[in-house]
Amino acid sequence: MAGCFLAACPVTAGAQHVSPEPPIMGWSSWNTYRVNINEALIRTQADAMVRQGLQEAGYRFVNIDDGFFGWRDKEGVLHTHPERFPYGMKGIADYIHSLGLKAGIYSEAGSNTCGSIWDADRNGIGVGMYGFERQDADLFFNKWGFDFIKIDYCGAGQQLDLDEEERYTAIVEAIREVSPKNISLNVCRWAYPGTWVKGLATSWRISGDITPSWTSVRDIIARNRYLSAFAGDGHYNDMDMLEIGRGLSQTEEETHFGMWCMLSSPLLIGCDLTRIPEKSLELLKNRELIALNQDSLGLQAYVVQHEGEGYVFVKDILQRRGRVRAVALYNPSDSPCAFSVPLSCLELEGKTRLRDLVRGKDERPVSDCIRFEVPAHGVKILRAEAERRLEPQLYEAEHAYLNEFDDLAKRPRGIAYMPFEGASGGMTICNVGGHASNYAEWKEVFSEKGGAYRMTIHYVPAERREREISDRRLTVSVNGNQVELDGLETDRSKGVATVALTVTLRPGYNVVRMGSRLTWTPDLDCFTLVPLSE
Ligand code: GLA
Repeated sequence: MAGCFLAACPVTAGAQHVSPEPPIMGWSSWNTYRVNINEALIRTQADAMVRQGLQEAGYRFVNIDDGFFGWRDKEGVLHTHPERFPYGMKGIADYIHSLGLKAGIYSEAGSNTCGSIWDADRNGIGVGMYGFERQDADLFFNKWGFDFIKIDYCGAGQQLDLDEEERYTAIVEAIREVSPKNISLNVCRWAYPGTWVKGLATSWRISGDITPSWTSVRDIIARNRYLSAFAGDGHYNDMDMLEIGRGLSQTEEETHFGMWCMLSSPLLIGCDLTRIPEKSLELLKNRELIALNQDSLGLQAYVVQHEGEGYVFVKDILQRRGRVRAVALYNPSDSPCAFSVPLSCLELEGKTRLRDLVRGKDERPVSDCIRFEVPAHGVKILRAEAERRLEPQLYEAEHAYLNEFDDLAKRPRGIAYMPFEGASGGMTICNVGGHASNYAEWKEVFSEKGGAYRMTIHYVPAERREREISDRRLTVSVNGNQVELDGLETDRSKGVATVALTVTLRPGYNVVRMGSRLTWTPDLDCFTLVPLSE
């Protein structure tokens, strides 16, 4: 094993890495047509997907969204819309398959569809899966032959106020019982629904519906900034269908597509493929960006630098902890932004080759710092190949896996992200602790050689709330070994405080967990790790 301390060595010796399924790519009817779809239209779009070279570029799914519903009869059998799909759905699914493509369908976790509530589509009343889980699953996947389903939550949430986890669990169990096929399932709850979702779905929406506007694209990226720890292993945060080819500026389209690729969102085209502008089509077929989205590691990029209004995102591609990383300099602001990113902040060192993946051109190599000016609403997406990969020293709280996090805003005092001026990255997490399962966890704390490290935890003393009796505490566990910290700073006006301890890491990945079983913890900012001796 000589030389195995080079950063690029695989960390779990002997472990066979099976590549996860990448995010799905395809086309969906909703953005352009809403409920006004029909069989001829779907066939035309499927044909166009092939003719325009999109199938060849990797787009496989043709997804029929809301609008195909007819009614549910007395036996509970679901019928399709008499004018839009007079011959039912099997024929159209067969047609899509005959082109070598996969077919997607849509339903609702409650009784009434979103279309019935928001688009006055009366045919969407009573056609959701609630109470008909097995029957509909049999119809969609066995009788009609669909491969994908998106399951919405309008009737279930706005009308019936059902519990998300219970509802989606019941549906997925029914699908798994009824259908032998491997169905790709999307949970459409317009907010990150909770960590349970990874066990049920291949992707889940994290935001409300996208519109063809810059503010919408920008807001969705903001919603997905800190969710990378919840994705992975073939499960993805879904930033919604693409608005490419629907009126954004060229720069904005590049940012939209580029960031969906960096953040490993499903890529579902939402425009009319028979009339797509040439530049938009070219962008959607950009092989280097697509490779980023479909990368064999299936990782979502995370923020490593936030200065002014700019964000630097990074992710490993090709090999975990290798020398090649994808980097996005993202400028959501309305004026140009000058980025200056030290290589060390990307855990890279030495002469580093850079390639602009949007333009498909090499940039000049650098050996200390990556510097570019990025226009308003723009992004520079780079493939950076360095000489060496460095051991990480900084772990942000906002990148941790928060075991009880959801973005549904239903729970009082649920664990949450909280901006704090002076915190590293400008962000902390709050409402950690109170019971054993409400913790933050870093699952990939990496040490090349293992050994003793100085861990310095940066935290923000929390405001003492009314009737809160105990001081805040913090339990840190490293690979299951727990240390209780108390006597922490309590004066919030002093800003970010630190506490240091010595921890032992093993070579490769370590798991660090922070929480507190009985009390709340202070708000957590980040921790650093410095090896104690060579
Ligand atoms: C919701 C979803 C959209 C679309 C419509 C259909 O709004 O979020 O993506 O499926 O319903 O009615």
